[in-house]
Amino acid sequence: MEGLPYCFSLVLGCFGVLVFTLVFLHFLSFFKRHGVVPCGSVGWPLLGETLEFLSPHPSNSIGGFLHEHCSRYGKVFKSHLFGSPTVVSCDQELNSFILQNEEKLFECSYPKAIHGILGKSSMLVVVGDTHKRLRGLALTLVNTSKSKLEYLNDIENTAKFIMESWREKPQVIFCEEARKFTFNVIVKQVLSLRQDEPQTTKILEDFLTFMKGLISFPLYIPGTPYARAVQARARIFSTVKAIIEERRNTGSYANNGRNEDFLDILMGSNTLCEDEKVSLVLDLLLGGYETTSLLMAMVVHFLSFSPLALEQLKEEHQNIRGRKRNDEYLNWEDYKQMEFTQSVVNEALRCGNIVKFVHRKARKDVKFKDYLIPSGWKVLPVFSAVHLDPTLHEDALQFHPWRWEVQGPPSKKFTPFGGGPRFCPGSDLAKVETAFFVHHLVLKFKWTTEGADHPMAYPYVEFQRGLPLNVQPILSQPPF
Ligand code: HEM
Repeated sequence: MEGLPYCFSLVLGCFGVLVFTLVFLHFLSFFKRHGVVPCGSVGWPLLGETLEFLSPHPSNSIGGFLHEHCSRYGKVFKSHLFGSPTVVSCDQELNSFILQNEEKLFECSYPKAIHGILGKSSMLVVVGDTHKRLRGLALTLVNTSKSKLEYLNDIENTAKFIMESWREKPQVIFCEEARKFTFNVIVKQVLSLRQDEPQTTKILEDFLTFMKGLISFPLYIPGTPYARAVQARARIFSTVKAIIEERRNTGSYANNGRNEDFLDILMGSNTLCEDEKVSLVLDLLLGGYETTSLLMAMVVHFLSFSPLALEQLKEEHQNIRGRKRNDEYLNWEDYKQMEFTQSVVNEALRCGNIVKFVHRKARKDVKFKDYLIPSGWKVLPVFSAVHLDPTLHEDALQFHPWRWEVQGPPSKKFTPFGGGPRFCPGSDLAKVETAFFVHHLVLKFKWTTEGADHPMAYPYVEFQRGLPLNVQPILSQPPF
């Protein structure tokens, strides 16, 4: 009789262990099927870890926040950013999965404040069919013009014009000069406006206000940079609308001695409404301006610390120039021959990280490997972390353009222009502009940088002092 309670508790104990094991196995299989939300921290109420995430660091490093979080939680972690629970990915495979599954599992989701400035029809804001329509037209515009001689000649003429003004100057602020160059190229291409026309100056003034607002605190009170940017966008919108109306009234599509520009092609399209057309013009001006000038500044910055690369680049351009008459313009075939230049540009994009990350949102619960990304969460694929990952790139922190000769064409571990259905439509334009500018720069000038001025990620990238260059013309070069 004494043994009965003992037996009873033994049976009870075994039963308990069994139930525990079953519950444990059930949870295990549930997590295996559905995944677990990545580990991480959520920071302060409301603000989360946004301020730490945005804290400035050199753009050729991943910064303290990512370094510390990746060491503690791994390359994929949870956080609370921009007012939303977030999964941050520094993992190449997950980044690629996110970009490729745009519209199926994820969608573009920039903060609401950016919508206020870009407008409701901007390509970075719209999704679904509207995005497809706008993007289709943007690709047509870019692809029909990128290898056209008039466009390539315009790039060279603008580069020559800018560098001509350097001859009397001992020093130039390179970022300002590069912005002048990319702005003049894009307004010429999109609207056929020359740099000396009053409308160009007006658009440029408004554009500068607009750019300041994009990176400001989103507070709509009259006088704040944000409010001024929203107003500046409205003015650019009216200016572009007025140009459209003028062309319509005078019937001057691609005539008056003008070559067909983006606006002509846009006006001829019947797939977009008027607001979408004007918005697309703004997207192209915005996309083609700041990022491309930054790429040029990155190239100049990294070359200043790599005399061997500069020497090899010069040789490549001397060879190309040597095959041409003095007054002969560069063409698409010349561009294709600039192989080392392309390696330098790729390496400047990898090390400079002009776009550090992009904003996405999970459309439904997504399982990737063992992770669960809950529906509605923000997802941030961080490109810079993959570009600087030492397990993917040998000597990842070194500027070494020769790696692209061995590594071959860019792959999934190199996404400066994003990927998938939102891959940047202007990537070729940015690269050809940079290559042609570099052609004139290395053949016409020697330069030294003044003091250290490193590109900083705020996270938008900026050279704090605008990259001052002491320039000296190379006189032995015949004019071209
Ligand atoms: C070095 C120069 C450039 C860089 C690094 C760059 C980078 C990027 C990136 C990363 C995206 C993807 C954004 C996302 O997925 O959310 C993007 C999209 C875009 N870019 Fe660029 N870009 C550059 C030059 C240009 C130029 C020259 C243009 C126009 C002429 C342009 C127009 C656009 C547009 C319209 C989009 C939106 C595409 C879409 O949503 O389908 N970009 N760019």
